[in-house]
Amino acid sequence: MARERTVLVTGGTGTLGRHVVRGLLDAGQRVRVLSRRPRRARDDGPQEWATGDLLTGDGVTEAVAGADVIVHCATGRKDVRATRHLLAACHHTRGNPHLVYVSIVGIDRVRFFYYDAKLACERAVERSGLPWTVLRATQFHDLVARLTTSQFRLPVTLVPSGARFQPVDAGEVAGRLVELALGEPAGRAEDMGGPLVHTSRELALMTLRAYGRRRSVVGVRLPGKAFRALRAGGNLVPDRAVGTVTYAEYLERVEKS
Ligand SMILES: NC(=O)c1ccc[n+]([C@@H]2O[C@H](COP(=O)([O-])OP(=O)(O)OC[C@H]3O[C@@H](n4cnc5c(N)ncnc54)[C@H](OP(=O)(O)O)[C@@H]3O)[C@@H](O)[C@H]2O)c1
Repeated sequence: MARERTVLVTGGTGTLGRHVVRGLLDAGQRVRVLSRRPRRARDDGPQEWATGDLLTGDGVTEAVAGADVIVHCATGRKDVRATRHLLAACHHTRGNPHLVYVSIVGIDRVRFFYYDAKLACERAVERSGLPWTVLRATQFHDLVARLTTSQFRLPVTLVPSGARFQPVDAGEVAGRLVELALGEPAGRAEDMGGPLVHTSRELALMTLRAYGRRRSVVGVRLPGKAFRALRAGGNLVPDRAVGTVTYAEYLERVEKS
């Protein structure tokens, strides 16, 4: 088992962060979760809890104090500002934690607004003067499913025509983040993609079938450079298809639950 460290997980209540917290606890680490919300009364887990807000900076200095490693999974509307507050708190406490940041495959090719912010966060982490590791992953299964389930109220399901995705299991990405967090700072780690590439139409049809819904799937050709880059596969890493859980397997779990 790895030497015990104190690991702060920002976004430790989120889809990815929850898996990271569990993985770190299983690896015998002292884990602290940063959340905007106070700890739930019925949560009696072994993790420490820090209430704070990365956007205002409130409580962030206290959260980072004494952390040997920070796995930064928090995300919201203003990620650059949030990341800057996190870095400022590290400098303020004079700590030198290993900062592990999770990012998205292809953010320098597909220029969505959210992706530009992720790229700026990567740069801020790289230039922070702290030891750092950045892992880029493809879209999580949960997000891909939401692209269809969020349209259940519509009579048809719209998909971006020509786009393909390589969904990956958030638990597997978390497992890799735990490995990286417990290792030496690695700089840009190798990208992580799911096992299979599917068209947006295939994914919508699979999701509809799993949820027992009947809808026509309608492709929409979306304008702009970002969607052109998406159609060109800028979000894919077929040579780094290292995830093992397929989207079909993820949906089987959904069907059973
Ligand atoms: N989803 C994907 O397909 C995908 C793919 C590749 C990479 N990623 C990256 O993986 C990371 C995690 O994504 P996710 O989908 O797991 O996110 P998520 O489920 O939306 O969770 C977001 C987390 O951020 C925290 N948060 C938001 N605003 C905050 C603030 N102002 N201060 C402190 N905490 C704040 C939330 O905590 P509270 O609500 O408890 O405060 C929550 O735990 C993100 O960096 C994302 O870009 C995601």
